[in-house]
Amino acid sequence: MTITTDPPVLDLGPAVGLSCRNCGARLPLGAHYACSECFGPLEVGYEYGAVTRASVEAGPQSIWRYRQLLPVPVDVATRPGLHPGMTRLVKADRLAAALGMKTLWVKDDSGNPTHSFKDRVVAVALAAAQELGLGTLACASTGNLAGAVAAAAARAGLQSCVLIPSDLEAGKTVMAAVYGGLLVAVHGSYDDVNRLCGELAGDLDDWGFVNVNLRPFYAEGSKTLGFEVAEQLGWRVPQQVVVPIASGSLLTKVDKAWRELGSLGLVEQSEWRVYGAQASGCAPVSSAFKAGHDVVAPVKPDTIAKSLAIGNPADGPYALDAVRRTGGVIEDVSDAEVVEGIRLLAETEGIFGETAGGVTVATLRKLLAAGRLDPAAETVLLNTGDGLKTLDAVAGEVGPSATIAPSYSQFMQAARARGLEI
Ligand SMILES: Cc1ncc(COP(=O)(O)O)c(C=O)c1O
Ligand SMILES: [Zn+2]
Repeated sequence: MTITTDPPVLDLGPAVGLSCRNCGARLPLGAHYACSECFGPLEVGYEYGAVTRASVEAGPQSIWRYRQLLPVPVDVATRPGLHPGMTRLVKADRLAAALGMKTLWVKDDSGNPTHSFKDRVVAVALAAAQELGLGTLACASTGNLAGAVAAAAARAGLQSCVLIPSDLEAGKTVMAAVYGGLLVAVHGSYDDVNRLCGELAGDLDDWGFVNVNLRPFYAEGSKTLGFEVAEQLGWRVPQQVVVPIASGSLLTKVDKAWRELGSLGLVEQSEWRVYGAQASGCAPVSSAFKAGHDVVAPVKPDTIAKSLAIGNPADGPYALDAVRRTGGVIEDVSDAEVVEGIRLLAETEGIFGETAGGVTVATLRKLLAAGRLDPAAETVLLNTGDGLKTLDAVAGEVGPSATIAPSYSQFMQAARARGLEI
């Protein structure tokens, strides 16, 4: 895509402009998120240079190994930052066996610096904010983004301002607060918080709201999950992927990453199916999918999966499009199933995911039971956050098997009662 840039020329790597996803109108690079012609969402336009597997593999052990495919400065890897990414891809044989599947991998993004995939999107937004001369990093968050923004701003020496719904889990709130920025809890839903941030971003034009006026840059960070999965599989795209949906951005960008790798010749052209996962208490995209609609009707969220509780998802229609185009399915699961999903992943693979991970595991299980996902096709499941931030979801279900006096016989009794082989 050829887009002319206006001066001053910014160093945002291969990014050359912004284009409207609705009408194709072009804008220069900047902190804009809505098309000046039709108010449609904007996307980064690129002119990619030569990218090879070797050039990527020679890069750092972080998302910056893909900087040639991101809107970030050439020297981004040497700047103070959290340098997220290159999280482990776990061959999940025991979970696969429990689910009756052949080949299953878990991409465990709880291993990022603030324990969710949001470090990826924030790292890219931060680099753009610095290049655009914005001195404050801000966001509207369902929880994970809050911690990621506050931590990245602290590390980079920027002012931060994070707005969250006031009913978030303690793990998310404390995590967002500890880095010392401005943390504002709002009486209202995420969608209320997001609306407020839209208003603020209109006025505070030297602030970078990562998921509002920096959204085109922020969203590109999610491509790195797709890039890593393909590289870690030996430069191959899996046949199926299961992705949790809140705004729907992550899902669309994993698909975009694989299309880019194919068109750049970094992986062989292949087909894959993208599956979307939501909690039934906030399932606007799943409902639209089931009804065969192209538009997503907003809902009022009520689920323990608070990180996915976006009732009016900005990228919902694009997520629907990616799932339908690839032949996937979007399904939703109850809160009880979410808890079962968290426990199943923990018990089979030793991975403690947050509620979003529980949603994704439970959705995979439901799709398999309904015969809507191929158990024999190679599948990747994304675990996007850490269970330590959503302890309440399972705290009522698990605990000590027994509480005893410091007594040998009582210990033996407890161990036998639990069925341990002694
Ligand atoms: C843990 C976790 N997983 C997945 C998502 C979904 O991301 P997206 O809004 O890009 O759909 C979020 C969003 O907040 C999240 O916190
Ligand atoms: Zn437009």
